[in-house]
Amino acid sequence: MVDRPRPRVDALVDRFGRIATDLRVSLTDRCNLRCTYCMPAEGLPWLPKSEILTDDEVNRLIRVAVQRLGVREVRFTGGEPLLRPGLPGIVAAAAALRPRPRLSLTTNAIGLARMAAPLRAAGLDRVNVSLDTLHAERFDAIAHRRRLPDVLAGLTAAADAGLTPVKLNAVLLRGVNDDEAVPLLRFALTHGYELRFIEQMPLDAQHAWDRGAMITGGEILAALRAGFTLLPDPAERGGAPAETWLVEGYADAAGRPAKVGVIGSVTRPFCGDCDRTRLTADGQVRACLFAREESDLRAGLRGGATDEELAERWRVAMWGKRAGHGIDDPAFLQPGRPMSAIGG
Ligand code: 5AD
Ligand code: SF4
Repeated sequence: MVDRPRPRVDALVDRFGRIATDLRVSLTDRCNLRCTYCMPAEGLPWLPKSEILTDDEVNRLIRVAVQRLGVREVRFTGGEPLLRPGLPGIVAAAAALRPRPRLSLTTNAIGLARMAAPLRAAGLDRVNVSLDTLHAERFDAIAHRRRLPDVLAGLTAAADAGLTPVKLNAVLLRGVNDDEAVPLLRFALTHGYELRFIEQMPLDAQHAWDRGAMITGGEILAALRAGFTLLPDPAERGGAPAETWLVEGYADAAGRPAKVGVIGSVTRPFCGDCDRTRLTADGQVRACLFAREESDLRAGLRGGATDEELAERWRVAMWGKRAGHGIDDPAFLQPGRPMSAIGG
């Protein structure tokens, strides 16, 4: 690692010259699904309530991030963020900040049928919805709950409420739903949603991830090309994790060429362009999804730290960000927390 002094700048910079402007806030580690790539069927020991940041504490840290650290985009995640009762208020507080950050939500969409309009009214801009299959019985096998109809109702409500562009995240699992690349894209195109496939990452609580069994981005593209003509996307990728292609002959809801994305976290890591910083529901900053270190902001929050002290702690945490996740390195160690406790 290059050893040089941290520059005295406000932004969240790291030793490798990256600047984090995109904050992912996990609002709860709980979930009403049990997707196999994330959680065991019996669930997990949840964080105790006393350790979870209150709404006011979350709002304060988001304010610090936006006003002092240059964060321009805030994404709410979980677990399942719709399970957080204070979500509309947290969204409204973030929307009232200046400069106003872009606000999005990564959700399984259960409950979104009821919440989409209030969240839009509170200032939410967009949603990313997890959808791995269009078959009810497969959904039950992947998520261990019979909730596909709720998800589909949530999706429609999100689009109707203007939480657009609605993006879909799909994880393909070998022998389970790996024949659904084309049907999922057809579904997305029909409804004007932007679909992205995510390579399965070693973030499951059970540590059952198997590199050999993983469906690669290359396989997904090959499957898609059997049903569609994909053209290179001329748009700048920036820090976006998805590599995108234009789907020939299709347009999105706004009349622009339709796109499909592949997030090749494992086979095509994008760590060099990462612009993300993460806050867990219990107030820990994580420089990366795969970080093995966390920096506690909760103790400072509850111990009388000033905004600038919290900001400085956050800067120090991000300065220590590693160059990459190293999933393909034999010495790779899975992070101590599963995805549901980190936030996607
Ligand atoms: N690998 C890839 N994607 C995952 N997600 C959750 N766990 C994993 C994993 N192990 C997805 C969810 C959701 C987003 C936050 O990340 O399906 O769409
Ligand atoms: Fe819940 Fe998301 Fe984990 Fe599925 S991936 S169990 S929806 S937190």
